[in-house]
Parts: sequence; structure tokens; C-alpha cells
Amino acid sequence: MSRTNTDTAQDKKGFWATALPVNWDALKEIGSEPIPNHLKKWWWCLGGTPLILFSIQLVTGLLLLFYYVPSADGAYQSVNHITHVVPFGWFIRSLHKWSANLMIVAVFLHTLRVFFTGAYRMPRQLTWMAGVFLLGGTLMFGFTGYSLVYEQMSFWGATVATNITEAVPVIGPTMAYLMRGGESVGANTLTRFFVLHTAILPVAVMGLIGVHILLIRLHGVTELYFDGEVIPEEKKYFKFWPDHISTETIVGLTVIYLLVILALVFPAHLGEPANPNQTPMHIKPEWYFYFSFRMLKLTALKVNVIITGALLAGLTFWPMIEDFLYTRLRIPRNFSIIVGIVGFIIFLGFTLWESFA
Ligand code: HEM
Repeated sequence: MSRTNTDTAQDKKGFWATALPVNWDALKEIGSEPIPNHLKKWWWCLGGTPLILFSIQLVTGLLLLFYYVPSADGAYQSVNHITHVVPFGWFIRSLHKWSANLMIVAVFLHTLRVFFTGAYRMPRQLTWMAGVFLLGGTLMFGFTGYSLVYEQMSFWGATVATNITEAVPVIGPTMAYLMRGGESVGANTLTRFFVLHTAILPVAVMGLIGVHILLIRLHGVTELYFDGEVIPEEKKYFKFWPDHISTETIVGLTVIYLLVILALVFPAHLGEPANPNQTPMHIKPEWYFYFSFRMLKLTALKVNVIITGALLAGLTFWPMIEDFLYTRLRIPRNFSIIVGIVGFIIFLGFTLWESFA
């Protein structure tokens, strides 16, 4: 049998080069892309941390799915079984719980870093907006995940959240009905939150992270400016590979170490099973919703919904709002720092107030 062109090509280039025709030079070029000097410091590259934690969520979540039963009768029992019977079930559940909390902290810190360095300004407005949706997705992960345990606190937490949703003008009642799968929180709500938590949100967040990273690659990471000039220090670039990747790896390993310690020392516990006929004395959502919960106690429901909507719109469109204030009203861009500090103090104040209530 005569030898074909492919045979000769394989002879020449060898099996792997033929079977896996990767353009290594292009990869090397990407790897040696210059990165602004400030990303050598971990607090500047906090974006990688939620990425690492999200990957841990996917792995531990998949493991939990082997035992979790997404029904009103089976949910609490299956979490109880995971926590007290399945070998290392308590550890995987604790890793998942703590990684969820650390991911929210990491996204908050990343948002603060980006906001106070003005890294949302032209041309990164879309990177920012994709980021705000990622923040929303990360909080929704927390809320739907917490509800899947189907214990008293999560059941009534879901009831409060769907009541707030119902108060949203025009679309509220429909959205609340869609979330609940009926007039009140129950078996249908659990299945909907399960589909949200294990299918819709993972796909949506993965897509958003893809868009986010693509935009970062298209624009590069912001250089630091002072008085309109790039800071001289910045001009000493370093390489994406291996320098930046080694920083991200060290951060990642530190986060994983912290995660394992937290899961071992403070394992996830299990409260009372959900009882729709008995409202607990003190309903409390997870800490990252303390701010809104405190606001709910201070304002009427409708006012609360309008304030929350305005805050979310303000956050999403802040790059454009700042542009408008600067170009039309001549308000200096540094005004954003004041807005950021006041906003952060109110957020922290309300969160601490609720945590001691
Ligand atoms: C799962 C959540 C998120 C992931 C995985 C992520 C990932 C990243 C990464 C890897 C970077 C590169 C530089 C760095 O590490 O700081 C970055 C930059 C950026 N992120 Fe995120 N991010 C997330 C959420 C957010 C949020 C919530 C916002 C804003 C509300 C945001 C806005 C931005 C902006 C504007 C940049 C460009 C910064 C610059 O050029 O210096 N990101 N993000």
C-alpha cells in the first residue's frame, strides 16, 4: 500500500505536531505580553481570585450533586445525609459553603479596587458592566445555593426575597410567581432554584467571565496614572507568563489553603428543617444581604425596591454617569472617590448594624 501525503507529513513533524497542530509561537507571544508593573502586587490582581473560587465551586458542586435530592421532601434529608453519613461529605459541603463566601468577598474587593483606581473609565465601560452582572450572578449563586438546603432560615429567607421581588413595580408579581412557581414558596420554588443554581447561573456566569476576560484582553489592564501621566514605575512591564501567572498561582494556593482551614475549623452546620407553618422569631439572610435587609427594616417595601433599583442602575452605569458629570457639569472625576467612600461606609455601616441586631 503506497504511503499518503499525511504519512509523509507525520514522518516529518511527528505524531503530536500532526495530531495537535498548535501554533506554539503564537502562544509564546501571548504569554510574553507585557503586563503593567502594578499587577505584580496581589491586591491589584484580585480578578483571578473569584475565577479560582468559581472553579472550586464547580468541582465541589458537582460532587454534592451525586447525593443532593432536589425535592421538598428529599432536599433537607439529602443535605443531612451528606453532612453526617457520606464519607467527607461534611468537608466537601464546607468547602462549597466557604468558597461561596470567599468568592463574594473577592468579587467585592475586586470591584472596590477597580472602582477606586478608576479602571472602569473609557474604554473599559463594558468590562465594568459585564463585571456588575458577574457581581449579580455571584450573589444569586449565594442566594439560590443557600435556599437549596431547605432549612428554616433558607426557606423563610426565600419567602422574604420573593416578597421583595413581588413589590417591584409592573413586573414584580410575575417575577415573584416565576421564582416561587406558585403563590407561595414550596416544592416548585426549590426545583426552580435548583435549575438556576446548577444550570442557568453556571452557564450565565461562565459566559460573562468569558466576555469579561475577552474585553480585558482587548483593552489590556489599565496603567496607573498620576496627574494625567503614566506613573514611571508602571513602565517597567513584566510578562504574563511566567511572572503574572506565578503571582496568580501563589494567590490561588493561599486562597485554597485558607479555604481548607475554614472548612476544617468551621464546618458547615445544618439548622432545623423548613416548616412552612412556623415562622422563626428572627429571620436573617446570609451576611452579604444584611445591607438590603437593614434597609428593608428602615423603609417601606416599595421605597426599598426603588432605592435598590436606583443603586443597581447607578452602579451599572457609573462610567457613563461620571462621564456626564464631568463633560456636562464640569464635576471633576475624583468626585467618584467621594461617592465610593460614602457608599462603602453606608454599606459597611448597615451590614454591621444588621449583624449585631
Ligand atoms: C466572577 C467575578 C469576576 C472575575 C472572575 C473577574 C476577573 C477579572 C480579571 C482576571 C481581571 C484582570 C485584572 C485583575 O485581576 O484585576 C479583571 C479586570 C477588571 N474587572 Fe473583573 N472580574 C470579576 C468581577 C468583576 C466585577 C464585579 C467588576 C465591576 C463591578 C469587574 C470589573 C473589572 C474591570 C473594569 C476590569 C479592568 C481593570 C483594569 O483594566 O485594571 N470585575 N477582572
